[in-house]
Amino acid sequence: MSYQSNFQSPAIGNSFDRQMMQQCLQLARKAIGKTSPNPMVGAIIVRDGKIVGKGFHPKAGQPHAEVFALREAEELAKGATIYVNLEPCNHHGRTPPCTEALIAAGVAKVVVGMVDPDPRVAGGGIERLKRAGIEVIVGVEEEACRQLNEAFVHRTLYKRPFGILKYAMTLDGKIAATTGHSAWVTGKESRHLVYQVRSACDAVIVGGNTVRQDNPYLTTHQVAAHNPLRVVMSRRLNLPEQANLWNTDEAATLVFTEVGSNPELQKQLLTKGVEVVEIELLSPLSVVKYLYDRGLSSVLWECGGTLAAEAIAQQTIQKIMAFIAPKIIGGQTAPSPVGDLGLERMTEALQLERVTMRAIASDFLIEGYLSNRSTL
Ligand SMILES: NC(=O)c1ccc[n+]([C@@H]2O[C@H](COP(=O)([O-])OP(=O)(O)OC[C@H]3O[C@@H](n4cnc5c(N)ncnc54)[C@H](OP(=O)(O)O)[C@@H]3O)[C@@H](O)[C@H]2O)c1
Ligand SMILES: [Zn+2]
Repeated sequence: MSYQSNFQSPAIGNSFDRQMMQQCLQLARKAIGKTSPNPMVGAIIVRDGKIVGKGFHPKAGQPHAEVFALREAEELAKGATIYVNLEPCNHHGRTPPCTEALIAAGVAKVVVGMVDPDPRVAGGGIERLKRAGIEVIVGVEEEACRQLNEAFVHRTLYKRPFGILKYAMTLDGKIAATTGHSAWVTGKESRHLVYQVRSACDAVIVGGNTVRQDNPYLTTHQVAAHNPLRVVMSRRLNLPEQANLWNTDEAATLVFTEVGSNPELQKQLLTKGVEVVEIELLSPLSVVKYLYDRGLSSVLWECGGTLAAEAIAQQTIQKIMAFIAPKIIGGQTAPSPVGDLGLERMTEALQLERVTMRAIASDFLIEGYLSNRSTL
């Protein structure tokens, strides 16, 4: 079974099926930011047109969505239809396979949003269910299912976390004034949206200059309970002794630096509960590899242009979120969102795909995807 088999095809399933799948996605979203390295999954069991069981996967190590839904439905699951946004698992992980639980419960039909993105297991769960005589429909609301779990899909396919570069710039393309002052480029509605984006991500990354210049918090400012891991990349660790990121009561902070840098500050950071990781050659790629190994699926880059350029060049960024404020700051040396990429002709520019634009109060948000086949 090919992973993208139904991606571009017209609507699959009837309108009730699609409505149920959208509800699965809503359920799945209840655990947004909390499931990595696992996907967000919601499941709904329907019997005679009525919902008799619901569930979602709350976090890795906990039961899968199907199990919660089956527990709620009890014996009503027999002969029922279950809707689930991701193909039911067919292997023994930390929990037993959901396919076996569905077969044991006697469900008659399974409606799946998308197949498992891992090519080694894709279709295995569906095949197992079919072999047990269960009717299976695949690809209902598939695009929305893929969108919700885009980070999980990327992590599974490429063995790297999904990277989002977010920046706020003026209409003349500056992310700060010539002095480095940047509070605030955009309005409060845009900043509120950024807090929500943070809550959906596993980590947020900045470089040393941003810590020195902006002293950011990088938290969700209480719009959501989940804060991402706050990550700083600093080669020489010439960072202030006091900084908002060193207060780890509300959210954890991890500092990547090069081996042997500023041992004095390293010691101080450790006493404040900040984790310090020394890497031989600090680079965006080495950092995301480390974060992948820690089980992270999504990383939000909120750095300035120097680090952003490195991160793009090393293909650690897959998606761009550009907030644009209708104001002009000017300044020959005022920083812009992306530093030097070594490109000399406009024909070499990185073309975004699947671009969308929307208004956020008086700002605009343009989102798009960088191709993974970029030849930088
Ligand atoms: N408007 C916005 O959206 C926005 C967002 C972020 C920042 N800013 C502004 O951007 C300016 C800072 O820009 P910046 O480009 O210097 O950003 P940055 O986010 O501080 O990144 C650069 C820093 O990253 C560290 N780094 C570690 N490894 C690196 C590597 N392999 N390649 C490059 N850098 C590496 C270095 O820290 P060390 O020097 O400590 O070694 C370097 O100074 C500030 O004025 C800030 O206000 C604006
Ligand atoms: Zn499962």
